[in-house]
This record gives sequence, structure tokens and C-alpha cells, in this order.
Amino acid sequence: MFSKVKDFFSRHRRKFIVTGVVVGGSYFAYRYAMRKLIEFQEKQTRDFLEQTRRTQHYESTERTCNQVIVGLSSKMFDEIIKLLNSEAIMEQLRNNPDNKVELWNELKVLSLTRLTVFIYASSMLTITLRTQVNVLGGYLFKDNAKVGQQPSVTEDVREKYLSLIQHFLESGIEDLVEFIKKQVAEVMSGHELVQPITISDIEQIFWSIQMGVNSDIKNDPNSKMSKYVLPKELQESTPTLQQMFNETLDLLESEEVVALSSNNICRGFSIAVDNIAEYLDGSTGPKIQEVNANEVVDVTKQLLNINRIELPLVKLIPILLGITTKGMNSAEKPQNLATSLTTFYMVNDKIKTLGANIYESFST
Ligand SMILES: *[C@@H]1O[C@H](CO)[C@@H](O)[C@H](O)[C@H]1NC(C)=O
Repeated sequence: MFSKVKDFFSRHRRKFIVTGVVVGGSYFAYRYAMRKLIEFQEKQTRDFLEQTRRTQHYESTERTCNQVIVGLSSKMFDEIIKLLNSEAIMEQLRNNPDNKVELWNELKVLSLTRLTVFIYASSMLTITLRTQVNVLGGYLFKDNAKVGQQPSVTEDVREKYLSLIQHFLESGIEDLVEFIKKQVAEVMSGHELVQPITISDIEQIFWSIQMGVNSDIKNDPNSKMSKYVLPKELQESTPTLQQMFNETLDLLESEEVVALSSNNICRGFSIAVDNIAEYLDGSTGPKIQEVNANEVVDVTKQLLNINRIELPLVKLIPILLGITTKGMNSAEKPQNLATSLTTFYMVNDKIKTLGANIYESFST
């Protein structure tokens, strides 16, 4: 563009000198406009380059984030399974003790707690990591753009900031388990072991658990997420680290994140219902065929049957334990619940958008 303009001027120089005298005013006005246009274009190019660099940096931030999510989720599920281990009770039940009913009631609460914690914890971990990695990414990008200045986010700050999430794995998970267990026990106290249960009853129970959890304003993991995932305060800090910590707390308690969390939890329970339905379908398959021995069982009928299936609550317990017995394992087919949940939250567009918005506002 620039050379073309120069070309044009040198080829028509004489003409311009002549006419320039005549229309002097407008010639200078034209030159001024031209210079402005060139400046404008140079700025556009600079902005475009910066935008590209930012996009590239953002994309590599995203990849890092996914790796961190997969690594930490796997540790987290193992921790949940350890904290809510059913083996000891199962062992006692094998000896057919007198307190069988009491033990099954314990298992009832334990199995539902484990499922509920799977759903909450994986959503909380994903949201927190997306937030942290993008806050950090934004800060790092800004540091990079400031040529010749000391970076505000040193290696040490970076490490300390990211390791804040360790709090969740070390003690936050335990607090979450305690809290959820209390809610589940309350919801389930009215449900007898022999009570017949359908899929829609299961959905109703999941709904009641969510309502119970939501109504405890002080401990609700959707609105008070940071209480579980991050330490109360920093042990040692620099002004930058303190600022990043404060901003992360603000983000995690923002309306957007609270709405996103509760939406996530609903979706998580739906994934669990699908998982349970598959089990029910498998375990009662032969029975359906007996009933319909003389009929052609088509798919629609099977779907209708799934909704009609009824089983005593006590029979649901091994299913709940079964789908929460293993942590992350992306090699396992079909995908287990822990892997389905993590994958779902990781590729969830709404969480990605949250991350992108955070990155955008912290890098400019
Ligand atoms: C961070 O928050 C604490 C507590 O609200 C406040 O005392 C402190 O001044 C804040 N620091 C920064 C750097 O924003």
C-alpha cells in the first residue's frame, strides 16, 4: 500500500506540482488524510498481530488446562473413593450379621453420597482450574507484552498460585464429603430399603438432594465454591499473588459461575441417570423378554419398559456403588461415570466461554 502511494506520487510529481499550486489546499488535505490512513493501517496490523499472538497463547493455555484437569481429576476421584469406601461394610455383610438392616442403610447413604460427590467435585475442579489457568494465562500474556520490564508473575508466584488448588485435594474434598453426606442422609431418612423405586423416583431423589444442598446458604458448593477449593488465606504472598488470589475468589463467587455450577450439577445428575438406566436395562433385560415372549420387542417398547421398571431401593445400592467404584480411565470402554463427567465438563462450551472471557479480560 505504502509503496504504491509513493510510486503514484513519483510518477505524477510534475502534475502534482502544477496542480498543487492551483489546488494547494486540497492537496495538503489529501496528504494529511493519506498519512492518517497509513498510520491507521499500521495500527491495525499491530493489533492484528497482537490478537494472533494472544489467540495462540490462549490456545496453548487451553491445552495446558486440559492436561491439568485430567491429571488432577484422576487424583480427586481416587481420593473420593478412598474417603467413601464401601468395602468395610460389605465385608461385615458377608458374615450375615444381626445388624444387616442398619448396615444396608449405611450403604444406602454412602452409595448416594459417593455419586453426588463425584458430580459436584468434578464440576468444581474443572471450573476452578479453568478460572485459575486463564487468570494466570492473562497475567503472563501481559507480562510478555511489556518489553524490558520485570515480570510481575515470577516462576515462584506462578507455582504458588497454581498449587492453591491442592487445598481441595488435601482437605476441601473431605469437607465436601461431610457436607453432602449430611444432606443425603436427611433426604434418604424417609426412604425404606424395601420401597419400590422407578427411574423417575431416582430423578426425584436426585432433585431433593440438590435442593437440600442449595438451601444451606453457608455451605452450598455452587455459591461457596472457594470455601472448598481454595485455602482461606495465603500463607505467604507477594502483592501480585495476593491480587490474583483476590480476583480468583471474586470470579468464583460471581453470578455467572454460580449459575454455571448449578447448571453443571443438573447435567451431571442426568449423566448419572443415563448410567443407571443402562444398568437397569442390562439387569432386567431377560425379564422383559420373558414378559414379551410372544411379541416382537421393539426399541420403543424397551424405552417404555425402562420407565416402568421397579426395583426395591436395596437393589439400587449395588448399582450406585458399581458406577462409582472406579475413577478416571479414558481407556475403559464403555466410558465409566468418572470419565464421562470429567469429559463432559472439560468440553462444556459454557465453561470454555467462561475461561475465554477471563483470559480476554485479564490479558488486555
Ligand atoms: C485482597 O483482599 C483482602 C481481603 O478482602 C484485602 O484486605 C486486601 O487488601 C486485598 N488485596 C489486594 C491486593 O487486592
